[in-house]
Amino acid sequence: MKPSIRWGIIGCGLIAPKFFHALENTGEGQVVAAASKSIRRAKRFGKKTGVERVYGSYQEMLDREQLDAVYIANTHAEHAAAAKLCLNRGLPVLVEKAFTRNAKEAAEVITLARNKKLFCMEAMWTRFNPATAKVRALLAEGAIGEVTRLTAAFCVLMPPCMKTMPWNRMYSPRFAGGALLDIGVYPIAYARMVFGEPPQKITGSADLAWTGVDKTSEYRFEYSGGRQADLITSFVRQRPREAVITGTQGNICVPHFSGAERLIITRSGCAPETIECGAPGFEYEIREVHRCLREGLIESPLMPLDETLETMRTMDALRAQWGMKYPGE
Ligand SMILES: NC(=O)c1ccc[n+]([C@@H]2O[C@H](COP(=O)([O-])OP(=O)(O)OC[C@H]3O[C@@H](n4cnc5c(N)ncnc54)[C@H](OP(=O)(O)O)[C@@H]3O)[C@@H](O)[C@H]2O)c1
Repeated sequence: MKPSIRWGIIGCGLIAPKFFHALENTGEGQVVAAASKSIRRAKRFGKKTGVERVYGSYQEMLDREQLDAVYIANTHAEHAAAAKLCLNRGLPVLVEKAFTRNAKEAAEVITLARNKKLFCMEAMWTRFNPATAKVRALLAEGAIGEVTRLTAAFCVLMPPCMKTMPWNRMYSPRFAGGALLDIGVYPIAYARMVFGEPPQKITGSADLAWTGVDKTSEYRFEYSGGRQADLITSFVRQRPREAVITGTQGNICVPHFSGAERLIITRSGCAPETIECGAPGFEYEIREVHRCLREGLIESPLMPLDETLETMRTMDALRAQWGMKYPGE
């Protein structure tokens, strides 16, 4: 029997219980402890999940617990510090997206992980879902010829009251909020996967909230040979959440591409064909972390750290065009 992997969680917000349940579903590990900056939040997480060992300090959890890995799920602005805290304790980390606030912080975390030979990965869960695996396989076998264009939209309507709350992480510059880092990172990472390289030219526009972070942003990425990606993300506009990959010999439409269950492929001269791929979930990324830990890999070949760094650089380039900075940058 494989030994059960003991996880700690940093950040006891909305996503933490989802990780807890997905980990249980894998049958490969358990959350043994969780930490928050607020003991009340940590206790609430404990009540919801049955995790008894909860802490009001990240440091205290790391001091007291025997862990094999840590899932970092606090705000984007806090990811780098939390990841470094764990890595400096010799602990592998799975860091929620967006990996950090900017490329400088990402490079620091990546360098530390590599120097210490510890596993580190951005929790880009979509990358590991069966529908994404199918898209990759279809592209690799040339099912739609050469990819020429990607369009992708990821829009999530946030409750209007959030806009007036600067302490809400979604709209907070202090917590590196904004649509770009929160949800724009999905289509950007998708473009990186589809084209297999970073864009040569990046242009974008943003509609900023009064707090100074983007509530809507649009990006055009250009690649060699006239290939391009047009991406949009928004907290206030609605668009079908889908990706359409166009090739020289057909196209692939992926409804709900971040958590897709199926895709529709139309090969030149053929009728559209729906391919059922299976339910998405965090379980796939968690199993990949476990596989890497068991095999002594310090990076996942499916979500390499260099790609994460490129995504952060792309988002830095967009923010530079909009003059969108976080405090202290
Ligand atoms: N993979 C996905 O599908 C998915 C979905 C949603 C979010 N995420 C990512 O997961 C991370 C957490 O998201 P979430 O939805 O769980 O966020 P959340 O519930 O708003 O907050 C998560 C944690 O961030 C810290 N935090 C949030 N707002 C704060 C504030 N105003 N003041 C101080 N600390 C604050 C707290 O950490 P402490 O408890 O440690 O104090 C909180 O527990 C983010 O990186 C997000 O982008 C991923």
